[in-house]
Amino acid sequence: MRLIMLGPQGAGKGTQAQRLAATTGALHISTGDLVRAEIARGSALGQAVKGYNDRGELVPDTLIMQLVEPALTAPRHWILDGFPRDERQARILDAMLAGAHVQLDRVIVLDAPDDELITRLLGRRQSRSTGKVYNLVTDPPPADDPGPFVQRDDDTPADIARRLAIYHRATKPLEGYYAAQGLLQKIDARGPIDAVADDILRALRQPHGSRPTVL
Ligand code: AP5
Repeated sequence: MRLIMLGPQGAGKGTQAQRLAATTGALHISTGDLVRAEIARGSALGQAVKGYNDRGELVPDTLIMQLVEPALTAPRHWILDGFPRDERQARILDAMLAGAHVQLDRVIVLDAPDDELITRLLGRRQSRSTGKVYNLVTDPPPADDPGPFVQRDDDTPADIARRLAIYHRATKPLEGYYAAQGLLQKIDARGPIDAVADDILRALRQPHGSRPTVL
């Protein structure tokens, strides 16, 4: 399985990709996590991407490709979360996969209204010790995770608004791009995390070539 998780900020791409990776053994590749890890390492690449990440803007393609390409062309199954973000990145991905003789199997779109997304993002916390993502309202940290639980630098109201605007302008049109390739399945991401996870698994069990919309 080589799968793209598409959807607006806060729809649950990271949450669901983490679960699906645990269920299937596929590698979860989050370009956002790669960006934040590189910043934490303090490398030259990390310094180059930091300003974009902190402002909630897209990192330039040449920099993001340096982070994501090694993982994508590795000989194993993956769930790609946060890439591509626009048609130009989608075409770069297509060319890269064709060059590596790797086939993309599905594109899952998680969708929910902006007001719900904003509430979720403001309540998001990540455990510094386990890396797991929780939500103060919808998915509180369990007692066995020692934390501490930190808020992302770009989860401020102004940055969230900027990220969602970029999503609607540049990323959402990718639904048409992948629908035209017969790869797209839309999932209603408004329900509880477990229910959305079940819908994703049900959608993935649909035989190849038969991809009804769940939404
Ligand atoms: P990235 O880390 O990808 O951030 P993002 O795009 O803002 O997406 P999010 O992580 O906010 O959304 P998500 O859907 O994964 O939400 P989550 O599952 O955590 O990117 C960060 C930055 O890196 C970008 O701004 C850019 O600068 C750079 N970058 C990354 N990729 C790039 C690229 N390709 N090109 C250029 N630049 C790039 O869920 C959110 C919250 O909701 C959590 O608290 C969770 O617990 C909760 N939740 C999830 N599902 C549910 C549910 N069903 N019900 C209730 N609560 C839920």
